[in-house]
This record gives sequence, C-alpha cells and structure tokens, in this order.
Amino acid sequence: MDSIIVTGGAELSGRIPIAGAKNACLALMPATLLSDEPLTLMNAPRLSDIKTMTLLLQSLGVEVTAMQDGRVLTLSSHALTSHRADYDIVRKMRASNLVLGPLLARAGHAVVSLPGGCAIGARPMDIHIAGLEALGAEIELRDGYLHAMAPGGLRGAVIEQRFASVGATENVVMAATLAKGTTVLKNAAREPEIVDLVQCLRQMGARIAGEGTDTIEIEGVDRLGGATHRVVADRIELGTYMIAPAIAGGEVELIGGRRELLPSFCEKLETAGVTVTQTNDGLRVARANGRVHAVDVKTEVYPGFPTDLQAQMMALMCTAEGVSVLEETIFENRFMHAPELMRMGARIDVHGGHATVTGVERLRGAPVMATDLRASVSLILAGLGAEGETQVNRVYHLDRGYERVEEKLSACGARIERVRGE
Ligand code: EPZ
Repeated sequence: MDSIIVTGGAELSGRIPIAGAKNACLALMPATLLSDEPLTLMNAPRLSDIKTMTLLLQSLGVEVTAMQDGRVLTLSSHALTSHRADYDIVRKMRASNLVLGPLLARAGHAVVSLPGGCAIGARPMDIHIAGLEALGAEIELRDGYLHAMAPGGLRGAVIEQRFASVGATENVVMAATLAKGTTVLKNAAREPEIVDLVQCLRQMGARIAGEGTDTIEIEGVDRLGGATHRVVADRIELGTYMIAPAIAGGEVELIGGRRELLPSFCEKLETAGVTVTQTNDGLRVARANGRVHAVDVKTEVYPGFPTDLQAQMMALMCTAEGVSVLEETIFENRFMHAPELMRMGARIDVHGGHATVTGVERLRGAPVMATDLRASVSLILAGLGAEGETQVNRVYHLDRGYERVEEKLSACGARIERVRGE
C-alpha cells in the first residue's frame, strides 16, 4: 500500500487547478440509466471512486467510454443486462446506492446491496426507501439486498424527508423524472451537487424546478434523452486546498474556485484570520499573518459548514491561537483523525459529537494512519505545517477523492512525495 511523506515547514505559493466534483459525478453517472441515449460528462475527476462507479454501471450493461485521460466520460445504457448492484462493489462505495432510483424508474426493478457500515457511521437507507415507496415502489430487504419493484411504473407523490439526505434526494429526484404525475420533495438537500444533477437532468428533458431550495418539484415525463454536461467544480477539494496555505503559510490561487460553493466555510476561514479573494480565475487564499485564531465549527447541511471539511478544519485548529470546539452533527463517528493528529502533538478532547481543540505552537511529524477519505487528507495538511516528517499510510483512502494530491501540493512548493508500497 502506498504512503505519502510530507516534510513540514515550506510555505506555499502557486496555483492549484480544482477538478470536477466527485460527489456530483457519482450522481451524474447513474443518471444515464434513465435514458437509452448517450450522456457525456465533461470535467470528470480522475478518481478511484469514479472507476468503481464505472465498473458498477458496466456490470448493469452500461457502455462507458473514457476519453481525454478520463476527463470526458460517455455513458450509454441502451441495453441493460442486469438490475443488480452486488455487495462486493457497494460495500466499497456507498454511492453505488444511487443506481436504485434510476433503475427502478427505467426498468421497474432493482436489486441493490445495502452498503453496510463504513468508518464514519452506520449509513442506513431508510430515507431513500421511504421516498421511493412514496413513489409506489415495493421494497423488501432480503439477504442484505434491497429488492425493489415498481412493475406498473412509479407515480408522483408529495414527500417530506425526515432529514435532508443528499443521496436520498438524488435517488428520489432521478426516479421521479419518469414517474406518472408530479412529485413534490420537501426538506430536499440543497447541496451544489444536487443543483448540478438537476441541471443535467433538465438537459436530458426532465421537468424539474426548485433545485438548491428545500422543495424540489418534478413533473414526470415519458422518456429522457441524452445530454452533454460539465461537472461542477469540487467544493470539498477546493476547501481542502484552502486550508493548505492557512496551515503552511504563503498564498495559493485555486483555479475554478467560487466563493458561493462554500459560503459558511469561507466566512469561518476569514474569521480565523485567512484572506479569501475571488479572482477571475478562482479563489486566492493567504494566511493574514502568523498563527490563525481558534474558531468554533458546527457541521450542518448546505449552506452550513460541510461535514466533509470538518477533519481538514480540525487540522488547522490544532495550531490555532486559542481553543476551538468542533461539533459534528451529520455523522456519528467522524473524529477518527483526532487520535492520529494527537500522535503529532495535537491537544484534542473528543466527547460524543464534540471535539475541543487547544491550539499548540506547532505539531511534530509522525507516522500516522488514514482511516477515511477526508481524515487522510487532514493528516497531510497537518504535516505541511509540522516540524519534521509525517508519513501517512493507507493512502488508498486519499485516492478515492483527491486527484494526484502530492503533485498539486508539490507544484506549490510543498515537500511531499508518494512512496509506492508493496
Ligand atoms: C453524501 O453522502 C456525500 N457522498 C458524503 O461525502 C457527504 O458527507 C454527505 O453526503 C453529507 O453531505 C456523496 O455524495 C457520494 P446523507 P450521503 O444521505 O448521501 C443519515 C465524502 O467524503 N442517513 O446526506 O450518504 C446518514 O447516516 C462523502 O465525499 C440516514 O439516516 O449522505 C448520515 O448520518 C462522505 N438515512 C446523514 O444522514 C438515510 O436513508 C447524512 O447522510 C440516509 C442518510
């Protein structure tokens, strides 16, 4: 297994291109199941999660062609050969469950493995199931798989989600595009990735309004066509690299970054003493002077502070001036980066959903272990400012969500290298 070695102390200066959003692309790709015409996605990120979704769709009979070194994907599902998403794929990537809604709408039948738990939590699917059953699906759990049927097709309904689940919103919206009648989805997720998916579905001929608000209305149509769509910039990659100069010092310009993708996060960084400037090309980020100040953070659904940036913010708070409290409200177990940061000298007390961080002058490099996608990158960020060498192991987690992180950071002066494991 590969590891990444960071030698701290180098200030950063340069430009980092922001890739297409993993979490938008993982919803856009299954949308091809809704139509028998080709869907082309531009600006696709080159990540192992995209490869996993490609394999899953191919197992259903979808033809997937990658061009321009994986940046352009053309997907065509004119002849589906299976309706089953197997456990061995779904357990590796929860987003595999996003084939459930489209398969049901297109074929009236889907067998999707429950994802099982993952490092950050149990991750049930009750909100997905409630929404699809409201559309008329019959769903039964058997031998670890959801067996979903809608032999007579789906019909529109008024649905209120108990929680604004991102994945459930995506599954229900995609399914509703081909339902008979109108669907009103209340307490819908508002994330930019949802907006991106709806804009693509609209290009395919779907009739949808309200994306980006908590109520999305979908008027079912008989069929959808093809489309060509450019994947929105990845706001989590953007936020991750905004933290890098805040920890290491210097100034970095994030190409393709837009402030409106991360409203709460940008405000928090500025309160902590980081300057964020929108330029024509993207976001320019610099640490104002010396140590940042401690700020409190509470993760919330969009447009609140993103849970996917909580670990990265914790890495910054480890060397902030003062005490900060980070409250994680979205997942039940998303502080596994804390013990690893403590190996580097961080002072963190975790109690339930709260982590209290007392800033220290500087962390010290150490061998640390990545446990999930965002925890792994927070350890690299911490290493940028630490004294000495930090070795982050199990970086396969990292490659799920970040393109060539060592290349992007070393291009800005970071001392970072990937060591190939056995
Ligand atoms: C999406 O996951 C993202 N993944 C996650 O990013 C992100 O952390 C999450 O949204 C929250 O923003 C993709 O888009 C592929 P949820 P998703 O349904 O859809 C509970 C990353 O690092 N819940 O909004 O699975 C659930 O357990 C990943 O890129 C139910 O209880 O998130 C969790 O506690 C990690 N029942 C909370 O809601 C359900 O039926 C948020 O889940 C569904 C969810």
